[in-house]
Amino acid sequence: MSGQNRGTTVQDFLKHFYAEESGQAVTLAERLIQAQSDLTLTCAELDFAAKVAWRNSTRCIGRLFWPALQVRDLRHVTQPDEVFQQLITHLQEAFCGGQIQSVISILSDEVRILNSQLIRYAGYEQPGGQVLGDPENLRLTRLAQRLGWEPSPPTAFDVLPLILQAGGTLHLYPLPPAAVQEVTITHPTSPQIAGLGLKWHALPAISDALLHVGETALPCVFNGWYMQTEIAARDLSDEGRYNVLPLVAQALALDTRYERTLWRDRALLELNVAVLHSFRETGIKIVDHHTAAAQFVRFQEREEQAGREVRGRWSWLISPMSPAASPVWGQRFKTQELSPHFSRPGLSGGCPGRV
Ligand code: ARG
Repeated sequence: MSGQNRGTTVQDFLKHFYAEESGQAVTLAERLIQAQSDLTLTCAELDFAAKVAWRNSTRCIGRLFWPALQVRDLRHVTQPDEVFQQLITHLQEAFCGGQIQSVISILSDEVRILNSQLIRYAGYEQPGGQVLGDPENLRLTRLAQRLGWEPSPPTAFDVLPLILQAGGTLHLYPLPPAAVQEVTITHPTSPQIAGLGLKWHALPAISDALLHVGETALPCVFNGWYMQTEIAARDLSDEGRYNVLPLVAQALALDTRYERTLWRDRALLELNVAVLHSFRETGIKIVDHHTAAAQFVRFQEREEQAGREVRGRWSWLISPMSPAASPVWGQRFKTQELSPHFSRPGLSGGCPGRV
């Protein structure tokens, strides 16, 4: 077992916790007896579980920073209004004036967040079947509208309200603009790219995940900082998302008549340059895919020193830009995730990429 627990009972977890974190006030034997009648984790155990779940996340290239995760224990907060206030605090602490800290809030399972991320842009179906905004969020947008949310007029970048479910009732909470930082996309040398009016939000904050510890699953919200390919090579470029590459190519006056001009690749590259440039100019933390891959290699080295095996999903760990230039390209991983771990409802299947 090389010190790393693969079991899924709370007893397995507690043994794992005691093996890695010495100096607990109560002995393991005593703690195991307690756990027979009460599965509630202590704050220290929860803190450890959340960090190790990140360390175990096979889809994440940013795992080097797992020990620095800030864990907020909100298991006692059960009123939707209070949960919403706590989520605003999460956004503020995470943004941290642009330095972006990795934060996780562990919630009570009496309140569910229906948004997949705290900050998401609405998508509206247009009469011709076209979509204004983010096609990924069509369903949530429709639900928000049914609950009375009305953007006026709809734009391509309307931040969706949070929808919380408590005791069978849905509650709608528009996010105050001060809680949502956004970055206008500009380019170091091509003003035409700024002319496209693109932007993206500063924080990726996953809000539909469960943290699995032993036999318990706790709803949680966690954030990191962006790697620019997530925005430039997927969110803005995927044909099923904002699909802006043809517009970028036009702005750059590329010859789009033939694939052989590689206009797609050139537009993609310049959009990646633009996103990195814009975040930097705005003073908001972001990482490029080469630096992130080098950090992942450092994570692998550290894990090896600690006698732990790194598992991973190759298609998630390589970058969608220049994948063969990544040190991950030639590697193979075991894919089965160790415990504790996170799960997300929409992600059981393939769907490569950092979604
Ligand atoms: N790929 C997702 C997005 O583009 C965010 C996923 C989490 N990413 C992260 N860097 N922690 O919004």
